[in-house]
Amino acid sequence: MPRKFLIDTDTASDDAVALIMALRHPDADVLGVTVVAGNVPVEQGASNALFTVELCDARVPVYLGADRPLLREPQHAFWFHGEDGLGDVGYRPQGRPADGYAVDFLVDTLRSATGVTLVTLGPLTNIALAIASAPEIVSSVERCVVMGGAACTAGNVTPAAEFNVWADPDAARQVLHSGLPIEMVGWELCRGAATLDADNRTYVRSFGTKLAEFALDCNRTALIACRRQSGEPGLGLPDPVAMSIALDPKIATRVSAHYVDVETRSDLTRGMTVVDRFDVTHDERNRAVWGELRARPANVKVCWQIDVLAWKESLYRSLHR
Ligand code: RIB
Ligand code: CA
Repeated sequence: MPRKFLIDTDTASDDAVALIMALRHPDADVLGVTVVAGNVPVEQGASNALFTVELCDARVPVYLGADRPLLREPQHAFWFHGEDGLGDVGYRPQGRPADGYAVDFLVDTLRSATGVTLVTLGPLTNIALAIASAPEIVSSVERCVVMGGAACTAGNVTPAAEFNVWADPDAARQVLHSGLPIEMVGWELCRGAATLDADNRTYVRSFGTKLAEFALDCNRTALIACRRQSGEPGLGLPDPVAMSIALDPKIATRVSAHYVDVETRSDLTRGMTVVDRFDVTHDERNRAVWGELRARPANVKVCWQIDVLAWKESLYRSLHR
């Protein structure tokens, strides 16, 4: 029985590949795609999502969502993904977004469905707005796989923060404390051996399919940007890594539950995902530190390690046909 998926995305080049993985997966029933401002303005993100859905010959609605963060100014990543978010190749969809607001679609769908896998690939603005208007929808979500944050490691947009959480830290903080069953897939998991190296990219190109061509061509800007951002010779694909885990939880080989919070006040550490890796907030010894024992219950399952080969196989299967 296919599992119900909702995908919230700031659709740029890595999001697009993650969408393909879900849309082409035989066990995923994608109920809809909701778009949020992030990598690119929300209208451009919707255009990119529509193009990707059409390329997959899928019949899945794409809804326009929040065009700015809850409190902060919109921030985009044109330098990384290109002005249009898809490597400035010139992809244009035939269709238009669905009528209606993404947040209303999320609320309506989650009010009428259960056992949903919610995958978030961008800033968490839409999710925060949906939960604020209908807190009960949390119970309809079986898994919430979040591409976001950096667990006890460096960020990609500041030394402390990853883009999706940094762009709307207030939304991220609300969502992490909403009661959603969050599985956090940090930016660190798409780097190093998890990147597509030259051999991997040559292998994908050898598929000769329209999806394989698109996946590589729309990420041509991102490939250059990865090297500039973190010295990676390979192509980092954070959203597809998160989607591979949403499609197959076994790809996350080391996961543990911890208290996680988000910095929203400091400019230096805005958007930092503060992970209580050693559960020190639960320890009597820290009563002195906190004044009283303010145990912080674990609210997030943090992914620390993935099966790199399985992640890449998941990607290849989606592009091969
Ligand atoms: O930091 C990486 C994340 O920010 C990815 O989701 C990428 O698409 C951007 O949204
Ligand atoms: Ca994204």
